[in-house]
Amino acid sequence: MRHRLLLPALASALLLASSLAGGPVRAADAGPPGASSCTGCHAAKRIPDSVIPRIAGRKASDIVQFMREYRSGAWPSSVMGRIAKGFDDQQIDAIAAWFAAQPE
Ligand code: HEC
Repeated sequence: MRHRLLLPALASALLLASSLAGGPVRAADAGPPGASSCTGCHAAKRIPDSVIPRIAGRKASDIVQFMREYRSGAWPSSVMGRIAKGFDDQQIDAIAAWFAAQPE
């Protein structure tokens, strides 16, 4: 009877593993860890009349500078200050490089 109990446990372990890995349907070009949390707002596609600035195709050094200033509070923001606090310098560098490489 043991295998009856094992199956649900295995299923939830798999579910946990895939959610930790960023989900089972993570696209190949989803970028470095964290980048997919940006694209929900900073969409890859241009959205007419959006209040959210476009960052795809921008200079990586500009994105890095914005993120550091949002994080420290040196640059005022509505949401970015809180978001930027969740990322360290290395993550910001990787995400900025990825956005810079995306089509404008
Ligand atoms: C909840 C939506 C949202 C998410 C998620 C988000 N942003 Fe933003 N972002 C904004 C808004 C809105 C602004 C305008 C400043 C503000 O009000 O916070 C902005 C501004 C920026 C700017 C400045 C662009 C400019 O020209 O002024 C950069 C760079 C940026 N975000 C990078 C990122 C990165 C990198 C991530 C992922 C780690 C991210 N954002 C996640 C909404 C979001």
